[in-house]
Amino acid sequence: MDSLFIKGPCRLSGEVTISSSKNAALPILAGVLLCKNKVSFDTLPGLRDINTINSLLSEMGVKISKEGNLTHYEAPDNVTTEASYELVKKMRASILVLGPLLSRFKKAKVSLPGGCAIGTRPIDIHLQGLEQMGAQIKVEKGYVEAETSGLVGAKVSLPFPSVGATENLVMAAVFAKGETTIENAAKEPEIVDLCDFLSASFSQLEISGAGTDKIVINGITGENISHTYTVIPDRIEAATFLIAGLITRSNIKVLNCNPTHIESVTKPLEEMGAKLVIGENFIEVQGEESNLVSTDIETAPYPAFPTDVQAQFLSLLTSINEKSVVTESIFENRFMHVPELNRMGADIKLQGRTAIIKGGKPLTGAPVMCTDLRASAALVLAGLTASGETRVQRVYHIDRGYESIDKKFQGLGANIERVNEPME
Ligand code: UD1
Repeated sequence: MDSLFIKGPCRLSGEVTISSSKNAALPILAGVLLCKNKVSFDTLPGLRDINTINSLLSEMGVKISKEGNLTHYEAPDNVTTEASYELVKKMRASILVLGPLLSRFKKAKVSLPGGCAIGTRPIDIHLQGLEQMGAQIKVEKGYVEAETSGLVGAKVSLPFPSVGATENLVMAAVFAKGETTIENAAKEPEIVDLCDFLSASFSQLEISGAGTDKIVINGITGENISHTYTVIPDRIEAATFLIAGLITRSNIKVLNCNPTHIESVTKPLEEMGAKLVIGENFIEVQGEESNLVSTDIETAPYPAFPTDVQAQFLSLLTSINEKSVVTESIFENRFMHVPELNRMGADIKLQGRTAIIKGGKPLTGAPVMCTDLRASAALVLAGLTASGETRVQRVYHIDRGYESIDKKFQGLGANIERVNEPME
């Protein structure tokens, strides 16, 4: 099992290029199930989660091939409409195959994803929406079994703007008869990217309102056209590197990002005194010239502060000599990084969904354990600024969502190394 060894404190410099977005690529690759004819991607990130969805798709009978930097997908008429527990348990996003399977093949059997380290994460909103579109659903022996004589467009109002439920319903609506309206839809850039991919795949498809809280889709019949799609840059990875520049008080340039997607992060950073030069597709962090003061943040659905950046931001707040408060309002158990940061010398107290940080305590390197993807990134950031050696264990969590994180930090001059250690 791999660990990362970081010798800090590190000073970073140079440029880092952001990879394509994991959270955009996953629903889009599930959407490939709607596509009988070949669709191709030119920038899929090298991530464990992408490998997992590829395994799931090929187990179902989707043909996947590689040619240079292109990955091609073809989903024939005879795919298996079942997603097994073995693969779904590795990655909750596997539930995203439900909508496209029902839409095109009129049936699906998908293992229930269950909870994970950050919360219980039910899928009731997905299932209610699909039922309103004419699916008969039963949950039995750990599986969701769904069938329909053909989905029909409906007006679905989500009780909460769930990202995954919005994506499943958008894909379900593609071959549904008539018009589907999703109210209180999630507005994340990844939803817009999914809708852009679907519009590029089906020339007749009309989708309006992607990126707003009301998405309207007019269902179609027929086959997709072949095309090559470029997935958007990963806004969470970009935000993580911005924070890396600031936590190490270094000057770095973050390339291939869409700054409009992370305004909810750059705005509070600038209010805290971060010097950022924001271009069209890059952000330069001038950490050396930034005199940071603390701030309070609260996570909420897009366009508010992203829960996926909460852990990394919290690491940054530990480096500022003031008190701050971080409130997590999306997931009930997303502070697994806090005890680990405290073991490195931070002073953070938890009260329910709130973390109270007394910043400015010097961090020292320690052996720490990854528990989930973003918590792990927070530990790497802390390791970059701590003095001495930090050993970050269970790096497979980070590899789910950060492409070559060790190599990217090495490129910025960090003293970080990946070591394959025997299992404990
Ligand atoms: C997606 C992202 C994840 C991010 C999250 C919130 C992917 C692959 N993952 O996850 O990185 O942290 O959005 O921005 O894109 N909920 C229900 N019932 C449901 C669905 C959700 O109660 O049927 C609750 C969840 O338990 C959670 C909240 O709604 O508390 C947000 O979940 P959701 O927006 O669905 O997140 P995901 O799509 O799972």
